[in-house]
Amino acid sequence: MKTILVAGGAGYIGSHMVALLAERGIDTVVVDNLCTGHQQAVKGARKTYIGDLRDGDFLDTVFAENEIDGVINFAAFSLVGESVTDPLKYYGNNVAGSISMLGAMRKHNVKRIVFSSTAATYGEPEKQPIEETDRTDPTNPYGASKLAIEGMLKWCDQAHGIRYAALRYFNAAGSNTDVTIGEDHNPESHLIPLVMKAALGQRSHIGIFGDDYPTADGTCIRDYIHVRDLVEAHLLALEYLEREDKSGIFNLGSGDGYSVKQIIESARRITGKEIPAKIEPRRAGDPSVLIASNKKAAELLGWTPKRGLDEIIADAWSWHSSHPNGYEG
Ligand code: UFG
Repeated sequence: MKTILVAGGAGYIGSHMVALLAERGIDTVVVDNLCTGHQQAVKGARKTYIGDLRDGDFLDTVFAENEIDGVINFAAFSLVGESVTDPLKYYGNNVAGSISMLGAMRKHNVKRIVFSSTAATYGEPEKQPIEETDRTDPTNPYGASKLAIEGMLKWCDQAHGIRYAALRYFNAAGSNTDVTIGEDHNPESHLIPLVMKAALGQRSHIGIFGDDYPTADGTCIRDYIHVRDLVEAHLLALEYLEREDKSGIFNLGSGDGYSVKQIIESARRITGKEIPAKIEPRRAGDPSVLIASNKKAAELLGWTPKRGLDEIIADAWSWHSSHPNGYEG
């Protein structure tokens, strides 16, 4: 039986991946050190191994005990701000974890990996929408650590025939209301979950980080993509690697941009809550606009996002209103 190994399967996006694989009847094993993930978020994996990717003996056991056909690697630290103040934490975990994973794949002759990359590899974009061939010049160590891994993947493809799909995520949000899993970060720094917390009254207001950007309403524009659409692209990427026997880098975004103010407005309409907002200073390092071109993923993977902003916010609201304290209840 073909088995997919999901590293970081207890995290926000990884757990949605596991749920999709289960829905499709695909045998799945998870590895996670539960450093930021939640055991309760893993629904449908045959087995979960608790351990760290950087532990080579641990990974060896996982590969020896299962017939792994492909790897999807979500395991990483992902706080942009923290990466600036503690770069070694990011290189140490993200890059070293991937080195260890690629080493185990090489040893056990596993030839396919889907890797979670990020729009942060681009830094300040040259143009909109952003295409995969645009300049990559990260403005923080988080993006730099992911770009370093993309480089490593390229060389491992050449040297060892390990085919990879590096998926550059834009802004993932939403939840899976069928199996009831959602976003639970501590601390939370992302806009949509924080807006939900303001709607629940857990925060007095949502701070809008700057209203003097060169955009129509002065607030930053981002490309929000439903987490369920996002994980569907990973499955298509695995199929692409098998079918084409060729590596590739793909943006995963909707192709549409929404401002911070538009997100808050939509959330007010969908939740029926007032959601007080206050203009606050800009957050360092925020580009004014980030919108993906998703043409390449559409053409080569056959991926088209199906869920729009209203569904993203409605599903986020469903999760947060039923789990005001995340997985703690
Ligand atoms: N924002 C606010 N108030 C908040 C939180 C966020 O106004 O309380 C704004 C931000 O300034 C930004 C937008 O809302 O303009 C979205 O911010 P998020 O923190 O939700 O997401 P980012 O766009 O900063 O980050 C995302 C991913 C990162 C990735 C980055 C690439 O979450 O992992 O895109 O640039 F690195």
